[in-house]
Amino acid sequence: MIETKTIFPAALNGELSVPGDKSVSQRIAMLAALATGTTTVTGFLNGEDAMSTLQAVCALGASCRFDGNVLKITGTAGKLKEPANPLDMGNSGTGTRLLAGLLAGRSMTVTLTGDDSLSRRPMGRIQAPLELMGAQLELTGEKGTLPMTIRGTTLHGIRYELPMASAQVKSCVLLAGLFAEGKTTVVEPRPTRDHTEKLFQTLDIPVDVDGLEISVQGFGSKGPQFAARDLTVPGDFSSAAFWIAAVAARPGAELTVRGVGLNPRRTALLDVLKRMGAQIETELTATDGDPIGNVTVRGAQLHGTEVCGDEIPNLIDELPMIAVVGALAEGQTVIRDAAELRVKESDRIAVTAAHLRAFGVAVTEQLDGMTVNGPAELTAPAEPLDSHGDHRITMSMAILATFATAPVQLNNVGCVQTSYPDFWNHLEQLGGKSE
Ligand code: S3P
Repeated sequence: MIETKTIFPAALNGELSVPGDKSVSQRIAMLAALATGTTTVTGFLNGEDAMSTLQAVCALGASCRFDGNVLKITGTAGKLKEPANPLDMGNSGTGTRLLAGLLAGRSMTVTLTGDDSLSRRPMGRIQAPLELMGAQLELTGEKGTLPMTIRGTTLHGIRYELPMASAQVKSCVLLAGLFAEGKTTVVEPRPTRDHTEKLFQTLDIPVDVDGLEISVQGFGSKGPQFAARDLTVPGDFSSAAFWIAAVAARPGAELTVRGVGLNPRRTALLDVLKRMGAQIETELTATDGDPIGNVTVRGAQLHGTEVCGDEIPNLIDELPMIAVVGALAEGQTVIRDAAELRVKESDRIAVTAAHLRAFGVAVTEQLDGMTVNGPAELTAPAEPLDSHGDHRITMSMAILATFATAPVQLNNVGCVQTSYPDFWNHLEQLGGKSE
């Protein structure tokens, strides 16, 4: 695996398609494994996170095969089998937290493990609601962390007010709710990505969405019975975001990204960039399930903005990139209400702030965000930057490096494989250079 990259200054321009959405791919793998019949999936992400989840559902009894780029998953009609070994979820927080919900009400024992970064991430946030439902879940890591052993029990529905805006926790509880007795309701503090609810609707699994309250009726331990349906994964907006933001911040640059998912719970970055002065147009090309379309961006000298409140969950994975854009914009860019960033694949507030400083950017860090002062006179960092095993940090810093005046070295970049294995090829496709 490539672990070090040197990125050269370059103006990025052009046209491309991004790989399949990571959140959607993983949800499809899990639901296809429960379905009756074979699901044909077009556009499944070929990144490690999606593959870990796919392997996990295969170990639970689904059968999966690729036919070129098309994935076929034959489901178990709800009859998952106990896996022979612990399931290695790699770096995938989504895979781990959602699968825990899916398994909590099945009569089997399953252990989930993960890589170093995943093994540091908080799992108490799913343990609490699942235990309220009657689940038995043991976290044997040092502080409420993986490895996790789930001993399936009879669950009962709950009404759960999420203590944090998290689509992963919401989805975990809803999936567990399908295998419980009675009704389960999750109340969100702010709207988060709704791919789970949308897929339930597509697959005729009853779900009731009433503002911030989402409810499912439990089917008991046998779970819901539903037929497989062919599904298309949209291009991942969070992968497109790197190029969209890079081009938005360079006056005169132009880019079109095709076939990208435009679910409004994912695209708040576009509103932020428009507010900062970028010209962005979207064209819808399909609306079956998530809206899919093309995004065209024309770059400009951007100006700072404030990003906070309800916008945060809808651009949560784009915040390191927004901080990068803030360094290129005139004035202050303020990010608030984003304490969740501290428990992502790395502490993204601390790591982003430290890396921006290494580029010569003036940043102040707050508990729940940061203030970035631009436009910075970027200098290439004196020492190689470390990704902390975080794919979105690597890609955000690679984009900032294209704006520097000298080549920049990034270390520990193999993590890009989790969500965007073609990232370096696409950098080149748009006129960038790395080696
Ligand atoms: C995800 C939800 C978000 C996001 C993560 C994927 C999902 O996490 O950051 O990359 O697939 O539901 P939280 O729900 O924990 O905020």
